[in-house]
Amino acid sequence: MAKEKELDVLDSSYLHLLSAFLAMEPPNVVISFARDCGGDSITETVQNFIWRHCISKADVKWQGPYLKRFLKKLIVEIESSGCVVLDELYEQYAFYMTSLRGDDAAKENSRVLKIISFLFPDESSGILSCSKSRKLEVKLQCSLNMLEGDTGCSIWPSSLFLSEFILSFPDIFSNKCCFEVGSGVGLVGICLAHVKASKVILSDGNLSTLANMKLNLELNHLRTGTQLLDHHRNCNTVQCVSLPWESASEDELRYFTPDIILGADVVYDPTFLPHLVRVLVVLLRCENSVSEEVDAVSEFDASQCKVMSNATQNAEFSGDPIPSVKGRVAYIASVVRNVDTLRYFLSLAKQSNLIVTDLTEKVKPFNFLPYIKSYQQSGIKMFRIS
Ligand SMILES: C[S@@+](CC[C@H](N)C(=O)[O-])C[C@H]1O[C@@H](n2cnc3c(N)ncnc32)[C@H](O)[C@@H]1O
Repeated sequence: MAKEKELDVLDSSYLHLLSAFLAMEPPNVVISFARDCGGDSITETVQNFIWRHCISKADVKWQGPYLKRFLKKLIVEIESSGCVVLDELYEQYAFYMTSLRGDDAAKENSRVLKIISFLFPDESSGILSCSKSRKLEVKLQCSLNMLEGDTGCSIWPSSLFLSEFILSFPDIFSNKCCFEVGSGVGLVGICLAHVKASKVILSDGNLSTLANMKLNLELNHLRTGTQLLDHHRNCNTVQCVSLPWESASEDELRYFTPDIILGADVVYDPTFLPHLVRVLVVLLRCENSVSEEVDAVSEFDASQCKVMSNATQNAEFSGDPIPSVKGRVAYIASVVRNVDTLRYFLSLAKQSNLIVTDLTEKVKPFNFLPYIKSYQQSGIKMFRIS
């Protein structure tokens, strides 16, 4: 039998193949990584790898319809290239054909479990390796319906970007009280807990999104709390609060006193933007934060890159130094789907005397998710608001 790749010595093409499969990337994307692994052909070695590390370990309960579609495409691809298909792959496909009748994926609000792997470069070489210590895996239950939970049950690109930002510059967030608005599936909060924010508060206005978010935190071994009066700072506890921007009272908001506020893909509905800006204003102005003494220019001190290898070329600091700003800040990442909506948000912020700095060209996080082809850092705008 051809020698199989072992998980602890994976080179980057195998790592991309496995990560893309776990994240449930479209079958064509996963298959193209499979081809890369075998030098433009899905060889027996590659098929064995897919069988052992992807298919046989997958959970039919969560991924059944995806597995079926993936295997079908894979088998067609291998056959049409004239290679021999592994018996195990045929047998598994036959099993799915009989056990997964109909297409569950078509059911409204079907849930799937995606595993997002942040791939940290090897410190000495800068090359991706699959050593367990250099990989952060986040399990997220998501909906196949992008609109479920007021859009909050899907992973949106800006939360991937903010997560890469947090993991690239952990010192900005460690030992800080971080508050996220419109948290959705909770990915950003899980990354904040990973870099040891002193307190993580996630919020959302939609109750089914909040329920899904809590489940995701638990899937990732984080405790969830809802107690607003919880002053006990514990890195493993993440607070989840219901916070519709339009009804959040000033008193309620003043209670949180975060050092850093975050938001990913929350600038999209003009109806809610005045409420969102009001929430940001109150959170940015509330008193008693430890961040008053923090000079935010130090946030982007290049020495923070020491956690990653000098050999890594992905992260770079370009353009002029970021202007100094005292006190509490918000980081808002956004895909610009409608320029007028973004302009409206910026004008509301200006009217409220907020200072908005466009960091898009100034700060580039590491590319920890190279296998997610639908996500490009260049598609995201990043603003710092103070
Ligand atoms: C496009 S999703 C982004 C979710 C997550 N931040 C991400 O990037 O994956 C927008 C999020 O904002 C929340 N949201 C929308 N309008 C809201 C409002 N008026 N008050 C509070 N949350 C709201 C939604 O429930 C949803 O979770």
